[in-house]
Amino acid sequence: MTAPLSDLLARRRPGHALERPFYTDAQIFQQDLELIWQREWLFALPAAQLDKTGAYHRLKVGAWDVIVVKGADGEIRSFHNSCRHRGSILCKAQTGKVAKLVCPYHQWTYELDGRLLWARDMGPEFDASKHGLRPVHTRQVAGLVFICLAETAPDFDAFAKLAEPYLAVHDLGRAKVAHTSTIVEKGNWKLVWENNRECYHCSGSHPALCRSFPLDPEVAGVNPDGSVSPRLQAHFDRCEAAGAPAQFRISGDGQYRLARMPLSAPAISYTMDGKPGVRRPLGRVALPDAGSLLAFHYPTLWSHFLPDHSLTFRVTPISATETEVTTWWLVDKDAVEGVDYDLDRLTEVWIATNDEDREIVEMNAAGINSPAYTPGPYSPQEESGVIQFVDWYAQTLERALGPRALAAE
Ligand code: FES
Ligand SMILES: [Fe+2]
Repeated sequence: MTAPLSDLLARRRPGHALERPFYTDAQIFQQDLELIWQREWLFALPAAQLDKTGAYHRLKVGAWDVIVVKGADGEIRSFHNSCRHRGSILCKAQTGKVAKLVCPYHQWTYELDGRLLWARDMGPEFDASKHGLRPVHTRQVAGLVFICLAETAPDFDAFAKLAEPYLAVHDLGRAKVAHTSTIVEKGNWKLVWENNRECYHCSGSHPALCRSFPLDPEVAGVNPDGSVSPRLQAHFDRCEAAGAPAQFRISGDGQYRLARMPLSAPAISYTMDGKPGVRRPLGRVALPDAGSLLAFHYPTLWSHFLPDHSLTFRVTPISATETEVTTWWLVDKDAVEGVDYDLDRLTEVWIATNDEDREIVEMNAAGINSPAYTPGPYSPQEESGVIQFVDWYAQTLERALGPRALAAE
């Protein structure tokens, strides 16, 4: 039998991988959902995907099922994908475009802002105004849409205030989606994040990415105390002088971070030859070698904003041992495929990298299933990002459980 979450947290060895139940156990997964995924702000999609009135995107987080939809007033709203009659889902497809949200079961018809417009033969007492779709908190920062499943959402403004100037120069309001990919990795969502937060594995796994992504710790990383090498500081200073905020910033609780990191010279974008993937750039970053603005927001978003195009990645949990990763490639809305960019060239590096990451996450998950697994130490030089993620995870759970619940659980 699995030990209670509070015991597992209390006996966690900092600087080490987590014990097996954190990666495999259905009950711990349920607690992850309740204590983190249903409480925190979650990245849903880039607003550019909902380019027209009625465009929607369906998103699942554990059992939660949410529709994000663009209204006739241009506002992006989110609703639970469950009809107020007998609960059927309204939208079956992952993305689409509708005039109204019509339930497929008995055709109750909702406006794009969630109001119930029409329900047949419900009798004189029926009050349509009491049966609108249940809303989900929705906020935007500089073209990125976030949702929160909690009744009362935590603060979003501090993140928005910090991220807005970093993102503003990338002009996501002018973006269009050039490509999206969704893959399922057979591993717990934390393994996906642990893998993302280090490049210790990159030289062995990512031949395409390593053409542009630097491995030299002098420029690729920030020390655990937040200090950076003089070379990296010089890069930040050059970017900032050119009007592109770059300085490393992390929230006090470690949930989100921004830093504009250099690529491996002479590469200036994530392409096989290192040259721009798009001739007509998205954004106003004047410095061609500004590198990539790396932004993460746990537990859903990591992203790369380059001078020519932007990439957003979304992590969503399916079960204790399966995780979905969706990637969006964003380009300027006036960039023409085949003229300003070649789609295969633009997407080649990250399609390969995502698949390589999927494979190593799945091998990691398979090895953790062995009765011989014991949590090993992270490299302080190469895996400080993983240590930071795992600490955030454990501390967020401890805060959510609270001291009394921790003692009583
Ligand atoms: S369940 Fe939606 S109209 Fe009946
Ligand atoms: Fe990787």
